[in-house]
Amino acid sequence: MSDGGYLLDNARTEAGERFAAMAELFDDWTFRHLDVAGVRPGSRVWEAGAGWPTVPAWLAARVGPSGHVVATDIDTSWLDLDAGYDVVRHDVTTEPPPGGPFDVVHARLLLVHLPDRARVLATLVASLAPGGTLLVEDADPALQPLACLVEDSPEAALANRVRQGFRALLAESGADLAFGRTLLTRLRDAGLVDVRAEVFAPYGGPALRTLETATLGHIRRRLVEAGRATDEEIDGLVAHLRSGGLDLTPAPLVSAWGRMP
Ligand SMILES: C[S@@+](CC[C@H](N)C(=O)[O-])C[C@H]1O[C@@H](n2cnc3c(N)ncnc32)[C@H](O)[C@@H]1O
Repeated sequence: MSDGGYLLDNARTEAGERFAAMAELFDDWTFRHLDVAGVRPGSRVWEAGAGWPTVPAWLAARVGPSGHVVATDIDTSWLDLDAGYDVVRHDVTTEPPPGGPFDVVHARLLLVHLPDRARVLATLVASLAPGGTLLVEDADPALQPLACLVEDSPEAALANRVRQGFRALLAESGADLAFGRTLLTRLRDAGLVDVRAEVFAPYGGPALRTLETATLGHIRRRLVEAGRATDEEIDGLVAHLRSGGLDLTPAPLVSAWGRMP
């Protein structure tokens, strides 16, 4: 992130695994909301903090040759060039919108991490065409803090302790752990109309174990340094996850959208 303290930087090897798991978990949900937001053949769309290619590729296929998709990120290394959407290296905290006005603007799991999230939201809103829709999807880790909803084993208890440590690290790096729930009010206060929101959390399955394992790879050192878990405990948890143990759930994702009058 622009403060240099982003906990889950894209350059790490685990980042690709995290992105792929997040796509598997959240893309169908996101695509349904992009449909509701009005992405059509010919639409002009900005995908902010795109990170991974699956959402911009879906958007490019949907808008077709008469539309235009621009995917921006401070780190564009995972995005595909020549895949039907424009890739622009762009810091959403300091730069003006990359063109526009846009019919649809989408940002998933971006604002929650950015200390200056209110100003970034204003930038996204300002880039909308009259009648255009903003869809913001962000986690609310404080809404449901557990990794394992049923704490019926030492591994489940450890997974919950580690999740607590992860939340503490996120907060230290500037994330707002109760951000998702504020989106309805924020979109209305920004002057958008027909504002709606839904909350989503998948539960159980291999993609969540992959996501957790990759996240542990990212934050292991900091968890150990903070005394949240030992290396041996994390090794044991990773082995348990790799062998198909634990039904996990992520922080709930709040998807909120509204239209520029
Ligand atoms: C948690 S990832 C989410 C990626 C993608 N939107 C998704 O849902 O899979 C956050 C993304 O925001 C990007 N990002 C962080 N700070 C940014 C900034 N200041 N401007 C633009 N993108 C930023 C990161 O590089 C990363 O790709």
